[in-house]
Amino acid sequence: MRASHGPACAEVIRARRPAAPRIGLVLGSGLGAFADAVENAVRFPYAELPGFPVSGVSGHAGEMVLGTVAGVEVAVMAGRAHYYEHGDAGVMRTPIETFQALGCTAVILTNAAGGLRPEVPPGELMLITDHINVSGSNPLFGEPTDRRFVGLTEAYDPHLAALFHAAAAEEGLALATGTYMWFSGPSFETPAEIRAARILGADAVGMSTVPEVILARFFGLRVAAVSTITNFAAGLGDGELSHEDVKAVGPLGAAKLMRILPRVIAAYGSP
Ligand code: HPA
Repeated sequence: MRASHGPACAEVIRARRPAAPRIGLVLGSGLGAFADAVENAVRFPYAELPGFPVSGVSGHAGEMVLGTVAGVEVAVMAGRAHYYEHGDAGVMRTPIETFQALGCTAVILTNAAGGLRPEVPPGELMLITDHINVSGSNPLFGEPTDRRFVGLTEAYDPHLAALFHAAAAEEGLALATGTYMWFSGPSFETPAEIRAARILGADAVGMSTVPEVILARFFGLRVAAVSTITNFAAGLGDGELSHEDVKAVGPLGAAKLMRILPRVIAAYGSP
């Protein structure tokens, strides 16, 4: 199991930004602009944080930004590492532990995903209400304590979900809900895998987020996760899938999330 350095990272961060964040955010492809919207920002390149995995995926920056959004203290990760980069599903353990060590009580995870439902086309947002892990891996492999037996029956926090629905309604934006199926990547799925995913109950598929959800529950954090549907999943749209297409559509969802997230953060952060 990879060593976990959350408390050490929290120390580095507190030395330059003593205020404790309430919420941690992990920004997926195309959402980097949200990190630029953080006010009073203090930036920590991942290289300055012990044990933080540096991601080489284009479209994913690599810094932790501490500051305020809607007057609420937040910690924002612009860029995440993926299982498929390292072959280690626990690669995000130190960052998620850092959120907890800093004092966050919740995390909001965002990602890009392939859509399986015709009525939720590319550019739409889907709030994740449950997940299916078909990767065969788990970020808690090797965890020696009984704490590894993390319950996931209520992994996705109903209170945070309600805040997302309220925020989307206030902004006049549609917000679908559904089940996200985690594939290891980095190759995209096959059409047969997507047919199987549909039968098994998936509404969207992707290569991230589920390890972070499991880690966040392990560390006692409340979780919300939202996908930008960037493409119809393999075999459901036209032609071959590409990372270029994912990056091209990501900003559509990002523009919507830029309107929703400050409302969610304000509502969660208000006493
Ligand atoms: N599959 C897996 N991951 C993804 C997809 C997809 O179709 N789109 C964006 N991320």
